[in-house]
Amino acid sequence: QKTCLITAGPTFEAIDPVRFIGNRSSGKMGIALAEAAAMAGAQVELVLGPSKLDIQHPNVQVHRVQTALEMHEKATSIFPQCDLAIMAAAVSDYRPSTVATQKIKKSSDNLRIDLVRNPDIAADLGRQKKTNQLLIGFALETNNAIENAQQKLKKKNLDLIVLNSLENKGAGFNHDTNQITIIDQDNNLKKFELKSKDLVAQDIIETLVDYWNT
Ligand code: PMT
Repeated sequence: QKTCLITAGPTFEAIDPVRFIGNRSSGKMGIALAEAAAMAGAQVELVLGPSKLDIQHPNVQVHRVQTALEMHEKATSIFPQCDLAIMAAAVSDYRPSTVATQKIKKSSDNLRIDLVRNPDIAADLGRQKKTNQLLIGFALETNNAIENAQQKLKKKNLDLIVLNSLENKGAGFNHDTNQITIIDQDNNLKKFELKSKDLVAQDIIETLVDYWNT
């Protein structure tokens, strides 16, 4: 039995006790992947950001996190026990440099929030990766989609990258559908039709099983 780490959902980066910086990820794509991987027989470790959705499956262990730092800590500690990891989360690249302990009051007309870089979880797993482990990333692009995805694959030391472009209608955040292209290290492209995220997840898992066996 293979053990598969999946990251999913957004991260929320606190500004003060009531406000945060987040993004539009619902967690649907990553949860669909967890389901498809479990159905294919894997033990799944799902590191899930603050999504309204949930999953209950005997082969899926859910680890709930809020922030990029928490997701980073969980994912890097679980990865050494895994055969593969799929990074479907939309991780905030920056977080406020300080979190106000009290609700920020409105005083001046302008307010500046200083941001610092978050760790890149996929890139860190890419550095940690052993030869018998597979690392699969996602690329969410708005322009120059294929070139940007190919660069991310190299930079983060991924084996495969799943491109979803906001240029395509019905793809990306929140929709129940997605349209993906899977790219490998030799720049082979495998394009798929627009379909439900459940079916997209099955396509990804089937591609991984084939990749593993060749
Ligand atoms: O949750 P849904 O509403 O269903 O939407 C699904 C999705 C659009 C969020 C998903 O399909 C997707 O594309 N996830 C990745 C989004 C993203 O942030 O892509 P990116 O191109 O910025 O990042 C590239 C890769 O690095 C991704 O695998 C990402 O998980 C990973 N990353 C990025 C930044 C960071 N600090 N840590 C990371 O691990």
